[in-house]
Amino acid sequence: MRVTSTVTAQRGFFSSMFPDWNRDGTLAEYAAVEARNLTPLPGDVDLTVGASLPTSGLTAWQGLFEHGRLQAGQSVLVHGAARGVGSMVTQFAHAAGAYVIGTGRAADRQMALDFGAKEFVDLDNASLEAVGGVDLVFDVIGGDIGNRSARLVRAGGTLVTIAGPPEARPADGLAIDFVVVSDRAQPSEVVQRVRDRRLRTVIGNVATLDDAVAAFNPTERIKGKTTIRVRP
Ligand SMILES: NC(=O)c1ccc[n+]([C@@H]2O[C@H](COP(=O)([O-])OP(=O)(O)OC[C@H]3O[C@@H](n4cnc5c(N)ncnc54)[C@H](OP(=O)(O)O)[C@@H]3O)[C@@H](O)[C@H]2O)c1
Repeated sequence: MRVTSTVTAQRGFFSSMFPDWNRDGTLAEYAAVEARNLTPLPGDVDLTVGASLPTSGLTAWQGLFEHGRLQAGQSVLVHGAARGVGSMVTQFAHAAGAYVIGTGRAADRQMALDFGAKEFVDLDNASLEAVGGVDLVFDVIGGDIGNRSARLVRAGGTLVTIAGPPEARPADGLAIDFVVVSDRAQPSEVVQRVRDRRLRTVIGNVATLDDAVAAFNPTERIKGKTTIRVRP
């Protein structure tokens, strides 16, 4: 198994992003990470929490504020609102003064509302179209959900997706797909919000290195980020 989408945290630092797109990840006792990809990790932040933040946190931040140019008072439809990236998007958008409509499975409703969503759409049982128009869609799913979401974007609004190039585009708005990039300042902003208790991260399975393959291939739905502890 090749794992590239790992980040690393150790006492003092964590990587702001993947060590390198073109190399294997950080499931190792020693990993070489370019200095530009490292950000100080405050000593009072748990390593597991630190490891859970960069990918979801930076993806959410860049999608909402850099690509989506979110403004206070706008409405945002956030898919997967209780899970990895979506939970961060929901919390950032809520904190920025946006009206958040979250989506996901029925079991995710309460957590999405707790993260700041004002409404929740159970994608298996409710009509997505009943949402009406929104200023911004943050799509983590793509396919049919992405296509239908494009039609919900109001004139002048934006569909931001991390699920690959969108097949459908808003009739009178932007469609932006992007891949998260390294940044040295954004991780500190994300970590500070955790320290201030303005941001919550959901830790799922914390496994040992020996159990890493099984942990990344779960047989049941795991809530929260999977983290591997290289040293006990
Ligand atoms: N472009 C980038 O830079 C970037 C960065 C980070 C992640 N990603 C990608 O973005 C995607 C989301 O990442 P994540 O960490 O947020 O994943 P995640 O924690 O698994 O969240 C995805 C959520 O969407 C739900 N979902 C998926 N398909 C659905 C459907 N058809 N109907 C209803 N709910 C559905 C999932 O529910 P179930 O688990 O029940 O299916 C889950 O709740 C992944 O494909 C990941 O590889 C891209």
